[in-house]
Amino acid sequence: MPDLTELVVNLCKRRGFVFPSSEIYGGFRSTYDYGPLGVLLKRNVMDAWWRAMVQERDDIVGIDAAVLMHPRVWEASGHVETFTDPLVDCRNCKERWREDQIEGVCPKCGSSDFTPARAFNLMFKTNVGPVEHEGSIAYLRPETAQGIFVNFLNVVQASRKKPPFGIAQMGKSFRNEITPGNFIFRTREFEQMEMEYFVPPAESSKWFEYWCGERMRWYTDLGIPAGKLRLRDHDADELSHYSVGTADVEFEYPWGWGELEGIAQRTDYDLTRHAEFSGQKLEYFDQASGERYVPYVVEPAGGVGRSMMAFLLAAYDEDEVGGEKRVLLRLDHRLAPIKVAVLPLSKNERLSPTAREVLHVLQPHFMCEYDETQSIGRRYRRQDEAGTPWCVTVDFETLDDRAVTVRDRDTLAQDRVSIDKLVDHLRERLT
Ligand code: GAP
Repeated sequence: MPDLTELVVNLCKRRGFVFPSSEIYGGFRSTYDYGPLGVLLKRNVMDAWWRAMVQERDDIVGIDAAVLMHPRVWEASGHVETFTDPLVDCRNCKERWREDQIEGVCPKCGSSDFTPARAFNLMFKTNVGPVEHEGSIAYLRPETAQGIFVNFLNVVQASRKKPPFGIAQMGKSFRNEITPGNFIFRTREFEQMEMEYFVPPAESSKWFEYWCGERMRWYTDLGIPAGKLRLRDHDADELSHYSVGTADVEFEYPWGWGELEGIAQRTDYDLTRHAEFSGQKLEYFDQASGERYVPYVVEPAGGVGRSMMAFLLAAYDEDEVGGEKRVLLRLDHRLAPIKVAVLPLSKNERLSPTAREVLHVLQPHFMCEYDETQSIGRRYRRQDEAGTPWCVTVDFETLDDRAVTVRDRDTLAQDRVSIDKLVDHLRERLT
């Protein structure tokens, strides 16, 4: 079997999950576009995260901060000074590498002759306003977290939450990575799902353990086998400048274990630094005890592209049906881009009106697809490859008994269900 990554990357292109960006111009440096199925999968991953982190909890609220922020934010956060990777040039082939990723040997030409490492800042710079000058410089945010810290007081005042409580945010971040790669695993533009959990300082370790457990559970609940996940503590020399302890949730990608999400103990680093740089007091006043303190922060920070990639790799499967190879994505129902495909048995003018009627019954409840071209077997295969959990077939008997056949992607079981009961039938089976 070819490498699983290759199979999944090919399926992503063929079926419209992920396309290379600006492909008609030859693509653009590890940037990707999400196609018709990819945009649905991405949205479902983000919805599942929001549901678990915000909707189903009463201690976390959401925000959506701007990508462009005051440049002082990035001085206070430490990113201007320390958000760097060690960059080296190969003197032989002139290729540029991250020194900590190549173990002294150029992956392109095998030479060990490099320039001395220099600190390369990963933030993308831009200019705000019509005239470019020193004071017009702004940065595209390299993490969504800072939008949360600078809104700490606003959110406390507006929501009246008390520590322990969290603020969640999903959105685009940008890093001028020296060596992006592995498809959507490491890109220069990507989406993050981050939550800053503000706690009394003495409770920081307790909540760190708690969030490590919760975040591992989120991935297994959505179908990643526990054996493909692990929690790995950072060594002291790996820690980000703001963290005193980080554990990564790692997935076993075909190329080895890689980070899906980091859970960091950021202490009071960010609030204290923003208080210093902005001159505002960023504290919590506990009216009950009369105590005033700067909360500590525990931060689970995940990436959308990386988890999509892990969900796709874990879901990819091949089996045999009726002597023919079948490729399928065993995606959790909640993540599946299309929930139900409506398929008239054949393209026939007697079947189409009833099939369209079934589609209209289902559309308000589920993401559906209607397909009447090609043989029914081929259409089933197309839906299996897209990860669609159910195919609803309208046949000539439907015209008499007002019932349809529901085929299950995983078990291939076929149930006859009356059109009146179809929405309830499918809803009960949605995980
Ligand atoms: N606020 C903390 C923070 O940003 P991080 O470990 O640098 O921590 C969090 O990033 C997550 O964002 C990572 O675990 C990963 O899933 C995702 N991520 C980071 N850089 C990425 C990149 N270049 N491409 C895709 N995802 C990335």
